[in-house]
Amino acid sequence: MNAAIRPIRKAVFPVAGLGTRFLPATKAVPKEMLTIVDRPVLQHVVDEARAAGIEHFIFVTGRNKGVIEDHFDSQFELEATLEARGKKKELEALARDLPAAGQTSFTRQQAPLGLGHAVWCAREIVGDEPFALLLPDMLHHGPTPCLSDMIKAYGETGGNLIAVAPVPEDQTHQYGIVGVEDAKAKVSAITGMVEKPKPGTAPSNLHITGRYILQPEIFGLLEKQERGAGGEIQITDSMIRLMQDEKQPFHAVRFDGTIYDCGSKIGFLTANVALALERDDLAKDFRRDVEQLLGRKS
Ligand code: UTP
Repeated sequence: MNAAIRPIRKAVFPVAGLGTRFLPATKAVPKEMLTIVDRPVLQHVVDEARAAGIEHFIFVTGRNKGVIEDHFDSQFELEATLEARGKKKELEALARDLPAAGQTSFTRQQAPLGLGHAVWCAREIVGDEPFALLLPDMLHHGPTPCLSDMIKAYGETGGNLIAVAPVPEDQTHQYGIVGVEDAKAKVSAITGMVEKPKPGTAPSNLHITGRYILQPEIFGLLEKQERGAGGEIQITDSMIRLMQDEKQPFHAVRFDGTIYDCGSKIGFLTANVALALERDDLAKDFRRDVEQLLGRKS
């Protein structure tokens, strides 16, 4: 890595949203704690960040999200009971997942004013260094973890990076979209960015998938950011300013795996089926049951 490029040590996970699309499940349970097979969706995303070498995990939580803090803490009674019952495998699995002491920080977004506002709430903990931002409901499933690809690319480009993937042209209005110099390249300079473009006006079909590497100057822009699409403070609007007004470089990194939008019911259900079918301990019986179910339905 170029010595002038500062390493990415910290990652921000915004988890303060209301999860209205999953009511009533999310009335008392945060949507980030809903499980994909037997791991909370948030745990899958923290796993991705750990695999990419992240050392400090910053969670922006909100009201009713206390169990997220408990999940990333040790559970003395549970561990003692597992120990007493000789459940070694379970104990080892819990120990593997547990972040080391001091590796996590939690701050609160007092009102869900939007993703940009949630990220701004992490400014004091991130401080004056570049950081990763991972949206916990976007599960990136592929041969290499998405954030690892991005950190590798960052070693060459520095600046800011956004993971992207193609969507059908008629769906671009539902996403943040970027224009790039070379749409086929794995890493390409970003030439433009727009949040939910009107149909027919998108600069490409590459959508922002929920993984970012950002320079700390984003915080000053978020502080002044007005509400945008959906009446929320949008991170994309401040990224556009960082690129256009502050002339900071942005690159897109194409993610070649599968992305499950676990904030939507279809994406969540599909992710559960896909990941269960990849599990050695479940695949055979689960496939049989699903095939039986599909056979009955058709
Ligand atoms: P979403 O918009 O998908 O989450 O935000 P939501 O608002 O909880 O979902 P619905 O539409 O009501 O079902 C993506 C991520 O950003 C967080 C969410 O928790 C989610 O992980 N977020 C969103 C915040 O932390 N704060 C916000 O103000 C908005």
